[in-house]
Amino acid sequence: MNLIRQHAEVQFSEELAELKKQDTGHLPPNWLLTPQAVVTYLMGGKLKNGFEVSPKYIGDRRLMEIAVATLTTDRALLLYGLPGTAKSWVSEHITAAISGDSTLLIQGTAGTGEEAIRYGWNYARLLAEGPTEKALVTTPMMTAMKNGKIARIEELTRISADVQDTLITVLSEKTMPIPELSMEVQAIRGFNVIATANNRDKGVNELSGALKRRFNTVILPLPDSANEEVDIVRRRVASLAKSLELPVQAPALQEIERIVKIFRELRNGVTEDGKTKLKSPTGSLSTAEAISVVNNGLALAAHFGDGNMNAQDLAAGIMGAIVKDPVQDKIVWKEYLETVIKSREGWKDIYRACRELS
Ligand SMILES: Nc1ncnc2c1ncn2[C@@H]1O[C@H](COP(=O)(O)OP(=O)(O)O)[C@@H](O)[C@H]1O
Ligand SMILES: [Mg+2]
Repeated sequence: MNLIRQHAEVQFSEELAELKKQDTGHLPPNWLLTPQAVVTYLMGGKLKNGFEVSPKYIGDRRLMEIAVATLTTDRALLLYGLPGTAKSWVSEHITAAISGDSTLLIQGTAGTGEEAIRYGWNYARLLAEGPTEKALVTTPMMTAMKNGKIARIEELTRISADVQDTLITVLSEKTMPIPELSMEVQAIRGFNVIATANNRDKGVNELSGALKRRFNTVILPLPDSANEEVDIVRRRVASLAKSLELPVQAPALQEIERIVKIFRELRNGVTEDGKTKLKSPTGSLSTAEAISVVNNGLALAAHFGDGNMNAQDLAAGIMGAIVKDPVQDKIVWKEYLETVIKSREGWKDIYRACRELS
């Protein structure tokens, strides 16, 4: 197929089928896999028949266990954390493994209205026939309730507070009243909700207290160690390069290590050896951004270089990720370049490539 990106349940259909084959435990109502098998799908592992399941989430297994267990209860799951900590990624994979369908998705924005969560009307029909079931436009939430599946809400806290509150009835009473038709949609067992929210969003709506009680919050942290972060970047870059069919060598591990090191040092405000204090830039410099810097570097190397990613291919991406604010971040970056990168052993190439750009 010619799709740019497949849904998780399609891309990993073989893994899901293999997991299903050896999954003999007790299934929660309407789940395709047991909670244990769902966590194996997320964390990766070797099945009894030798089949290798690839890791999706790299980090603390316990967090995934808590997340998956929550979905068997009457509470919904909120994945909370900095941008680029795999909240959306985990949400997609959990729904793919539990419901076999990660597409029941509502994207939260400042403009998300009640009708995106509850239901809307086909106005032509509404005018012609009046309020009938046929004139109703369903939402992913309603579909999930009817079919006992997991619905996803991305960026919940970008949605205004009063629209957020339409979720209260859904989550506590497990029903969606449709007063215009004097009826309701009651949720089938297996229905639940995974929401994601950023704690970096400025000027957004807090989750109301009433709604908070209906969610179990799992905080996804930044990767603990540089090694873990390098591993995440390496794996994601490998699979993205494959799906984009970039004609390049796998990036040298050393380049990934350097990027991760730069990002971590700037994020933490201090060099790895603890000796030099640094100013942090305004952006989040997440793992996700490290992934896209490497990807861009690969694309440059593939199309305009010799197929091997070098410092020049990386420099523009690194700067772009760090300098988000043309004034403040530029100062931060200059200082880092001149005080840290310049004098680091074996980093002359990066220093030069970055100097040429700025
Ligand atoms: N701990 C992690 N394990 C696996 N992938 C990760 C991890 N942290 C970040 N990523 C990668 O970062 C990318 C962006 O994650 P995403 O889910 O969009 O972040 P957000 O938390 O902002 O929703 C994904 O491609 C994901 O694979
Ligand atoms: Mg996200």
